[in-house]
Amino acid sequence: MDDVEREGFASEEGGENPPHDTASEATFVRAEVVSPSLKRASDVAAERPHDGFAAIAPMPEVEAIRTHRLFAEWYGRLEAAEADREFCRHQMTHLLDVARIAYIRVLERGLPFRKEVVYAAALLHDVGKAAQYEDGEPHEVAGARIAQEILLDVEGFDPREKTMIVAAVAQHRRWSDASTPLGKLLYEADKASRPCFVCSAREACAWSDERKNMGIGI
Ligand SMILES: [Fe+2]
Ligand SMILES: [Fe+2]
Repeated sequence: MDDVEREGFASEEGGENPPHDTASEATFVRAEVVSPSLKRASDVAAERPHDGFAAIAPMPEVEAIRTHRLFAEWYGRLEAAEADREFCRHQMTHLLDVARIAYIRVLERGLPFRKEVVYAAALLHDVGKAAQYEDGEPHEVAGARIAQEILLDVEGFDPREKTMIVAAVAQHRRWSDASTPLGKLLYEADKASRPCFVCSAREACAWSDERKNMGIGI
């Protein structure tokens, strides 16, 4: 990802983006990152009188991505391209399934990612899919480029987080031991998100039987 090194992004090597130290990062996250996110959600719930609806904790930096003109443009093109698709689609339901599965795994494993970073990566991971339909460019390549353009305009992520998100988008399509921890998490959540056991196109699907999700799990 040599094109990641742009204004507002951290270098992949050294600089503002030191090598991952999962053990120490996990400790940091439990103490400094995950807890404030959880606290915010409970604060929101506590501040709102119970009226039968659950309150959600807003994520303005993620909303800034969703409402960015480039995201809206590419999302619209993808929605049109998949209007008659019988196989898995890549609209908001899928993006949020991936975000929620990924964040459940973050909490269960004590991984060092802010909720907003996980949701941003999930929201952006298939943003290049329309480019793949239209001219054959691999969607993880187009997606990383589009994600980078969007994130240049979005406040609320530091340069290291923006670099992590773009790299994860680029890595989400294939498993690699060399991928970043967020890239691996995104890959796993993406694959786990598909309820193959209720899919009417299951028999014609390109996924092997071993890879299909044939029951409920996390
Ligand atoms: Fe994808
Ligand atoms: Fe996906």
